[in-house]
Amino acid sequence: METREILLELRRKNGLTQDEMAEKIMVTRQAVSRWENGETIPNSDTLKIISMMFGVSINHLLGQPQNTVCPSCGMPVDKTNDFRAANNKSSSVDINYSDNGGKTMKNILVTGGAGFIGSNFIRYMLAPGFNHNIVNLDVLTYSGNLENLDAVKDSLRYTFVKGDICDKDLLAEIFAKYNIDTVVNFAAESHVDRSIVDPEIFVKSNVTGTHMLLECARKHWKINPNDRHEREYTPGVKFIQVSTDEVYGTLGDKGLFVETTPLAPNSPYSASKASADMFVRAYSETFGLPVNITRCSNNYGPYQFPEKLIPLMINNCLKNKPLPVYGNGKQVRDWLYVEDHCTAIYAVMTKGRPGEVYNIGGNNEKQNVEVIRLLIKELGKSDELIQYVKDRPGHDIRYAIDNSKITSQLGWSPAYTFEQGMKKTIDWYLSNSGWMDRVISGEYERYYNEMYQ
Ligand code: NAD
Ligand code: TYD
Repeated sequence: METREILLELRRKNGLTQDEMAEKIMVTRQAVSRWENGETIPNSDTLKIISMMFGVSINHLLGQPQNTVCPSCGMPVDKTNDFRAANNKSSSVDINYSDNGGKTMKNILVTGGAGFIGSNFIRYMLAPGFNHNIVNLDVLTYSGNLENLDAVKDSLRYTFVKGDICDKDLLAEIFAKYNIDTVVNFAAESHVDRSIVDPEIFVKSNVTGTHMLLECARKHWKINPNDRHEREYTPGVKFIQVSTDEVYGTLGDKGLFVETTPLAPNSPYSASKASADMFVRAYSETFGLPVNITRCSNNYGPYQFPEKLIPLMINNCLKNKPLPVYGNGKQVRDWLYVEDHCTAIYAVMTKGRPGEVYNIGGNNEKQNVEVIRLLIKELGKSDELIQYVKDRPGHDIRYAIDNSKITSQLGWSPAYTFEQGMKKTIDWYLSNSGWMDRVISGEYERYYNEMYQ
């Protein structure tokens, strides 16, 4: 018998709706994953889980007096304590795998979790108040740094797997082993300047990698993966693609990016992210995979690799090195404090309507020179450090996000003003000079000298 037939039979014999059955499968998967993660499950819960998994009664498992037949295995059971009763909230042994005021615990695959935003997201999700399991899959490129996760590495809810999102077999193994029901795909080559020097790896990690993940999610989550006309998935599953406002291209002085703005990427980086978005959309349209795409503006905050504007300028200021401003420095970015990005992704994960795109912005449009002058002032340095250098080829002039969809539909809004976020960021870099020194030793120096020669 195929899995689908077994499940349908169990559902029929136990008089369950499709949703009830799916909920039981999910609870069982999560319980098994908790076992595998070394958690002790009380005996009463263990019996319930086995009872759920095999559709046999608890009395049958306990070998207690039985007066009728088990719906699944045909052995005699006590009708009042059968499969359904065993999982009924009013029964004597109750099982509760929900957390967060009733929201179900999830097994989340976070890809690229050793990078800047991914590591902030993992720390956020492992904070008290959540009960989700996190599997972090990261190949550890130059920007992936396990030190970013030192604070949570011993959490029972956290597992690190070193590997590439392009590795199909590894993905299948992870989905099966950890019963992944949610994917948050951060893994990517993320720096525009590097994409101008060497675009190839951007296609591999950002496009092929995203496609591999989508394919694995489709196969693993689809109720009947062999039926190409069926669009039924295990309830509660979701694939979140962390994209960028850069896929919309560039704006003039006026206007804002909305979710329906046509994609017009200008750099190899944004072209690879736009391509990935197209695949995510196609998997939603063709296969019915429950997805969301988030497109957010420039992030800043703790643990950002010093190739990006803000940490690069902080590091150079602290070392009294020139501050390389591309072109006239009047390009505009809309800055979002990374913690606000994390809360937005959580809102999309829990409340986003499948198939929808959500823009995430901080309502903080600033010219690059404004940001640099603020840093100079806060760090007690002089404007003389500013050095205008050759402009970036294809440099996008202005990014600005209209975030009214996520604020009105999902009730999210940024908690930090630019001033508050910058203060926290500067304080963090001042108190973590060891982190910066370790990050810029070795390969970084070669990169910097080549990029800013
Ligand atoms: P980052 O460069 O700091 O981190 C990327 C992480 O992905 C690293 O840990 C790296 O090792 C990992 N990675 C890269 N290729 C991989 C692969 N093939 N398999 C597994 N892991 C791989 O980037 P970030 O700034 O944290 O950005 C995270 C995501 O957010 C990216 O998808 C990026 O496009 C998107 N984004 C970033 C910003 C921003 O301002 N930083 C803004 C909008 C969107
Ligand atoms: P960056 O942090 O690379 O993000 P993105 O290009 O994805 O927006 O750059 C932010 C802005 O700062 C962008 O307009 C380019 C500019 N910039 C400089 O002027 N000098 C620099 O050394 C860097 C890294 C960026």
